[in-house]
Amino acid sequence: MPLATTHAAHLSRFPSAFAAAVHDGLTHSPQKELPSMYLYDEVGSALFEVITALPEYGVTRAEERVLSAHSADIVAELPRNVTVAELGSGSGRKTRRILEALSKKRPSGATEYCPIEISPAALQLCKRELGDIERVSIVGYERDYLAGLAEVSANRREGEVLLVLFLGSTIGNFSRLAATRFLKSIRGMLKPGDALLLGMDLLKPLDTLIAAYDDPIGVTAAFNLNLLARINRELDADIPLDAFQHLARFNPDARSIEMHLRATRPVTATIRAAKLTVEFRQGETIWTESSHKYSAEEVGPLASDAGFRCTRQWTDKEWGFAESLLVAG
Ligand code: TRP
Repeated sequence: MPLATTHAAHLSRFPSAFAAAVHDGLTHSPQKELPSMYLYDEVGSALFEVITALPEYGVTRAEERVLSAHSADIVAELPRNVTVAELGSGSGRKTRRILEALSKKRPSGATEYCPIEISPAALQLCKRELGDIERVSIVGYERDYLAGLAEVSANRREGEVLLVLFLGSTIGNFSRLAATRFLKSIRGMLKPGDALLLGMDLLKPLDTLIAAYDDPIGVTAAFNLNLLARINRELDADIPLDAFQHLARFNPDARSIEMHLRATRPVTATIRAAKLTVEFRQGETIWTESSHKYSAEEVGPLASDAGFRCTRQWTDKEWGFAESLLVAG
């Protein structure tokens, strides 16, 4: 399968889209940054699986509870002839409930499930995890979200309604403005009556939020630091990992947890494949991710702005998580 070529303009100058993105991000001023999609190589995907098992990170378990309790209700809102596209399938564990409910509703004929993943490791895991569900066929797309969705939508069988799954609160990794734009882009690829199931982590007390992104045994720190290790492994770089520290802080204006990597001393590093020598002041940070938190009431207006109607919402009270069904108008 050909890989997505998001940074096509750069590919003549750099050996890979990753190299181009690292060049752009680490020359970004005043705030250096790295795109969070590159956190998920084989090591990063495995570490993220461990994060989802940490007692401090309630997000995944909350969504699993919502989907276990309500998959039948969710599927009851949809017709029988559904093709499922999932943006960022991860291991696929949460998706099982939905697929089983859909398969039950369609006793003759098969439900097609199309996970869209830039991580080949995650795509493999997900195929292994979900490969055994009766009457569900899996067609994986090793693409970024929008390129993958465009293809799934173009390839869909006559008469099929598309259900897009965007779970795990990944929408929170966009700013609010970018989230609206992203939902509009999704809407642009759908037909009226297609649906989007959107998982969102909700605002909660600050200490709970911070602990979820800065756990005491350091798994989240390792996950974040792996991005620098990956640059060293793949881009012929010499970043001293012991000079960087994981940092998670709440940004009250954006209502987001920001993740950074902070240089604990002055650093000079060379990243050969990105054609870059980069300097860090002591205390300077690289911004790697933000996780925006929502209130359940924000979803309706967000959906309308993007051309959807939020028809139902299911929440987990124990942790504070909302699963919303958005129907394309
Ligand atoms: N989408 C996840 C979230 O925002 C990703 C995530 C969890 C993450 N922990 C992280 C990203 C730590 C970077 C660093 O909840």
